[in-house]
Amino acid sequence: MSTDTLTIRSQLGDYPVHFHTNFGFLSRLASLPNPVILIDGNVLQLYKETLSAAFRDRAIYVLEATEDHKTLDETARIYQWIIDHFKAKRNIDFISIGGGITQDVSGYVASTLFRGVGWDFVPTTLLAQVDSCIGGKTSLNFGGRKNLLGTFYPPRAIHIASAFTHTLARLDLFSGYGEVAKFLLMRAFESGEPFPDVATHLTSIIGDRAESALAPIIRDCLNVKRSFMESDEFDRGRRNLLNYGHCFGHALEAASKYYVPHGIAVNIGIIFANLAAAARGMITTELARLITREVNLPLLAQEQRPNDYLEDALLENMKNDKKRTGQSLPLVVPTLGGLVKLDDFTEPEFRSILCELREMLFH
Ligand SMILES: NC(=O)c1ccc[n+]([C@@H]2O[C@H](COP(=O)([O-])OP(=O)(O)OC[C@H]3O[C@@H](n4cnc5c(N)ncnc54)[C@H](O)[C@@H]3O)[C@@H](O)[C@H]2O)c1
Repeated sequence: MSTDTLTIRSQLGDYPVHFHTNFGFLSRLASLPNPVILIDGNVLQLYKETLSAAFRDRAIYVLEATEDHKTLDETARIYQWIIDHFKAKRNIDFISIGGGITQDVSGYVASTLFRGVGWDFVPTTLLAQVDSCIGGKTSLNFGGRKNLLGTFYPPRAIHIASAFTHTLARLDLFSGYGEVAKFLLMRAFESGEPFPDVATHLTSIIGDRAESALAPIIRDCLNVKRSFMESDEFDRGRRNLLNYGHCFGHALEAASKYYVPHGIAVNIGIIFANLAAAARGMITTELARLITREVNLPLLAQEQRPNDYLEDALLENMKNDKKRTGQSLPLVVPTLGGLVKLDDFTEPEFRSILCELREMLFH
């Protein structure tokens, strides 16, 4: 049974996020008129019994959820598979189950096949549940650049069962916490909530995969994202602030060749952004250091490699950021009144903040 629903307002059509306390909703998805199912291969293995019971002998496209499958080649294989296996055309009910990679690939397919088909998404990672599942962005990597291609195409409905997170590897769980930290910090910078409270809140949920711990935090994060997104769905203003932690984070993901997962990179990107804000006097150095120590460093979850922090590679990736329009480097930073996007962050500043960050991580 669905416990409750959050509605996301969209100019492309409002859509619901249903919160489920068990997996019964999967059979209801399977009984849509023309189901076409795509599932992350690891999820299919881990939930074989549940998924076979729901989808019985239906054909399933199995997606290998790695960054090198977030490509046009993979979408071409999916288009072909759908054309080969199903008679239905625009009336297919596309259902995809997996994390952010599955969402990006299947959403791109849903938005382009037959100029758009009905699509239900079941996010199975914490990161996809707290963040990527709403907002309607679909993305593919292209020419060695992350998320270069994409569309705005929200699912018809999103189905969250926090129980999927029980099987997440520790690193993927912590990758989700990186985005959770981002949303809680954004809310605190906007509302004036004390930062030690954010740290206490995070500490209280780390490692707790119980529905009672996760469901409220997922809802909180989606509400923060919604508040930045609904007024600027197509990313021309306020929604850009959701890139807090992402400007440096994306550069680090790419420089590490995806050794550093998305949410961990965002968490480190937050340290970078806070140090940059402190260097400009927008927040105090004490606050930047307190947040780093109490919020970000406990969420690192993997050993950082000095070679992923080489100045030239990171700078090149920051310059290639698709959000960069002028000469300066893209960066969203906190102030005590909320987040702002800098339009004059310079290379010398980048070099100096990178030195500080390396000092924190490696000494
Ligand atoms: N479209 C958007 O708005 C948006 C926003 C943020 C991130 N992203 C993208 O999302 C991707 C990262 O997504 P992610 O962190 O959700 O993970 P993912 O999709 O990369 O999956 C991470 C790993 O977890 C496995 N997995 C998935 N569900 C599982 C489960 N329930 N139990 C065990 N293992 C499971 C996957 O097979 C994979 O090995 C990046 O490519 C990022 O760019 C997109």
